Amino acid sequence: MRYLTFALTKGRLADKTLDMLEKIGITCEEMRDKDTRKLIFVNEEQKLKFFLAKGPDVPTYVEYGAADIGVVGKDTILEENRQIYEVLDLGFGKCRMCVCGPSKAEELLKHHQLIRVATKYPNIAKDYFYDKKHQTVEIIKLNGSIELAPIVGLSEVIVDIVETGSTLKENGLSVLEEICQLSARMVVNQVSMKMENERISRLIQRLRDVRQQS
Ligand code: PRP
Repeated sequence: MRYLTFALTKGRLADKTLDMLEKIGITCEEMRDKDTRKLIFVNEEQKLKFFLAKGPDVPTYVEYGAADIGVVGKDTILEENRQIYEVLDLGFGKCRMCVCGPSKAEELLKHHQLIRVATKYPNIAKDYFYDKKHQTVEIIKLNGSIELAPIVGLSEVIVDIVETGSTLKENGLSVLEEICQLSARMVVNQVSMKMENERISRLIQRLRDVRQQS
């Protein structure tokens, strides 16, 4: 039996993924150690390998087959648009992709004004404003702390993830439009899905059962 390799998203999603995998008897104790600098972890008994990657890189590893399976946020799947199968909504990491800003920006959105949109997700923003709303906007790519942009006058609005809403609230911003709902998804390499169909399908089914029980 060959190894099945998992690419997990570093941080909160990886912890929740390990919790869920434990429920179906898949364990990787070594990976729980916060101090380790190791990059890849092996479960010899179950012929599984795991590694941690930055979210936007997970679909890349899976598309190229360096990982058979990935767990990553729907936001990243939409943004990266890789040739991979999205096979399961894992039900955790729930949040929303939204257009946010100060309340005065509401009018600009309504009247389809030429506005600047700051975001870590330029493809999602383009798809939403150009293809869905047919509104021409200027998209400015940032890498984090997106809420800063409308406060310091870099943009009128932002496209960003909203989970609890506290970052927006603490910075005097609010949700102006919702683009879509997000959560963690399991993705699979297209060749692996064919070559290891039985093992991967069984895994998906067991995770689906766990999801339904919780
Ligand atoms: C994300 C997102 C928001 C915040 C939303 O940022 O970009 O800033 O979380 O969460 P909330 O609604 O619960 O406040 P993250 O913490 O990932 O850091 P970043 O600013 O570097 O993107």
